Amino acid sequence: MKALVLAGGSGTRLRPFSYSMPKQLIPIANTPVLEYVVRNILDLGVNEIGIIINDRDNEIQRALGDGSQFGAQLTYIRQENPLGLAHTVAIAQDFLADDDFVMYLGDNMLPDGISDIAEEFTARRPAAHIVVCKVEDPCAFGVAELGPDGEVLRLVEKPKQPRSDLALIGVYFFTAAIHEAIAAITPSARGELEITDAIQWLVTNGADVRASDYQGYWKDTGKVADVLACNARILDGLHPGVHGTVDATSVLVGPVVVEKGARIVRSRIEGPAIIGAGTVVEDSHIGLHTSVGRDCAVTNSRLERSIVLEGASVTGVQGLHSSLVGRSASVGTTTQSTDRYRLVVGDHTQVEVAA
Ligand code: DAU
Repeated sequence: MKALVLAGGSGTRLRPFSYSMPKQLIPIANTPVLEYVVRNILDLGVNEIGIIINDRDNEIQRALGDGSQFGAQLTYIRQENPLGLAHTVAIAQDFLADDDFVMYLGDNMLPDGISDIAEEFTARRPAAHIVVCKVEDPCAFGVAELGPDGEVLRLVEKPKQPRSDLALIGVYFFTAAIHEAIAAITPSARGELEITDAIQWLVTNGADVRASDYQGYWKDTGKVADVLACNARILDGLHPGVHGTVDATSVLVGPVVVEKGARIVRSRIEGPAIIGAGTVVEDSHIGLHTSVGRDCAVTNSRLERSIVLEGASVTGVQGLHSSLVGRSASVGTTTQSTDRYRLVVGDHTQVEVAA
């Protein structure tokens, strides 16, 4: 079996971050989403992994390299425009050949792994095996209707009036039968070749298409709120460890990771929380479910349930919460006046100040 990881696309819902970085590299507990994806695939014993990247993007290649550090063999496949999930399979056909493969959306987090589903697929080898999960807002997803034995009856991409609450999650297993289906479909109203349409084509043409109900934790990290929720979930399983320095006046409570070269000075860190390599936390209080990336500076501040990306600084800010601070961004206070704010805010950025 091979794997195809989809890390192209435009990431409009994760603006402004997706303007400057691929959304699949957003760190969860200081590790990029894409690294969790690759590790889940390797756990299946699959190491030939094709990665779809968009045309302007070398950052993913720089982050994952040739995969040898994970024991993976990575092949990068460029997609000029985000023409849809099924389009990525079409352009990956040389890489995939006639092999079975798992298609994995590079912004989906499944920390409990996908081994059980892989086993189900391998035992029966249906043309397609999808994975579904009950959600409250099915309109935001591909939606499946299933028969009593887990057979797929109907699939619709982001329906206005969903006929079930079962969303397709970002892991699909296919035999080579999917290539004929993709060749037969045409772009949807939003101009994309939809993988849901290709799977529906298989159903309509009498192929065996199965679904499993996913029992583990799943999050599509396409939106800021979901990134923060997923970060909290992963931090809940954190193994504590101090690899940097914590001075005698600082206190660590609960599971805390202090990465190599990080310094905690006159501060309190309430875990689960992680402080990245080379970061300095001084005279601050870091509350639970917070990840601070590498080479950051947190000074005289109080923050919780947040993610601070590498190189950022937070200075003199009390009560920062549920926030995502971008790479090398700086958040601070002014000495000028108490009722005025000065902001340099990028496109599609959200700022909330006290009313
Ligand atoms: O997360 C589950 C959902 O993912 C499913 O329920 C939907 O059926 C499925 O279409 C997909 O919907 P999204 O709207 O979340 O897809 P998104 O545009 O975020 O793309 C998913 C991943 O695939 C993401 O890592 C970007 C990548 N991608 C996307 C497109 C459209 C590509 O690499 N190329 C593309 O052309």
